[in-house]
Formats: sequence, C-alpha cells, structure tokens
Amino acid sequence: MELKEKTIKDLISKAIKMLEYSYVPYSRFHVGAALLANNGTIYTGCNIENAAYGPSNCAERTAVFKAVSEGVKEFEAIAVVGGPDGRIKDFCPPCGVCRQVLAEFCTRDFKVILAKSIDEYKVFTLEQLLPESFSL
Ligand code: THU
Repeated sequence: MELKEKTIKDLISKAIKMLEYSYVPYSRFHVGAALLANNGTIYTGCNIENAAYGPSNCAERTAVFKAVSEGVKEFEAIAVVGGPDGRIKDFCPPCGVCRQVLAEFCTRDFKVILAKSIDEYKVFTLEQLLPESFSL
C-alpha cells in the first residue's frame, strides 16, 4: 500500500519528538521511532540504554514491543531518526536486530522511512533492508 505524504510527515515528526525521551547516558546517540499499525494507531519509541550495555533497547524495538504488548501485531510503516546529542546529522537506518524483529511482524512491503528532517527522507521496503530473511 502506498503511504500518503501527510502520513509520512506525521510519522517523521513523531519520531523526532521521541529524541527528547531517549535515555542515552552512555552513547549520547538519540534515536526516535514512530510505528504505524494497520489499525491507524501510531506507537512511538526511543532508545533506552543500560549501564550493563547488553540490556539496552533500540528505539524501533521499543515501538514494536509497546504495540505487541497491547495486542497489535500488524504494521504498515515506521519512521526512524537519530543523531549524536539528539541532533540529526544523517540518516539512521535500523540495526540488524531491529530489522529481524520487524520481519517477525511485518510483511515484505512494510515501509521503513529514514529521515533527516520532515522534508528530507528516503523510503525503503523491509525486503530491501533485509532480503532473504529468516523466518519459521
Ligand atoms: N540504536 C537504535 O536505537 N536503533 C538502531 O537501529 C541503531 C542503534 C541505538 C542503540 C544505542 O542506544 C545507540 O543507538 C547507539 O548505538
């Protein structure tokens, strides 16, 4: 399904807002995400780090887990932004672990929006970012 320009901008602006909530005392690299469910609800997420490093959670997974924990498992798109000290300098593509988590719930044509600002963004399908993915 094609995403409307208005929807894309709404997701990007919600992802940018989430940069404020990132808990990143270790990397100082803020990431924000906004995940659009098929039912129209938007689940936001930020990265949350931990002194033991391993338990840290990425913004994308925070958003996915918030949705799934509320019984929502069908998604259309996610917007992701990030940068050092919360300032966006470049596109912030999802890490491999987040791509695999998205692949658990999303179809191959799920859209991943990478943004530098409301007006500067690129849209990929999950298939483009994680081809030949593993699933049961
Ligand atoms: N991070 C995310 O939140 N999403 C990604 O897809 C890549 C990395 C976070 C993890 C860590 O808190 C910080 O960015 C630096 O790696």
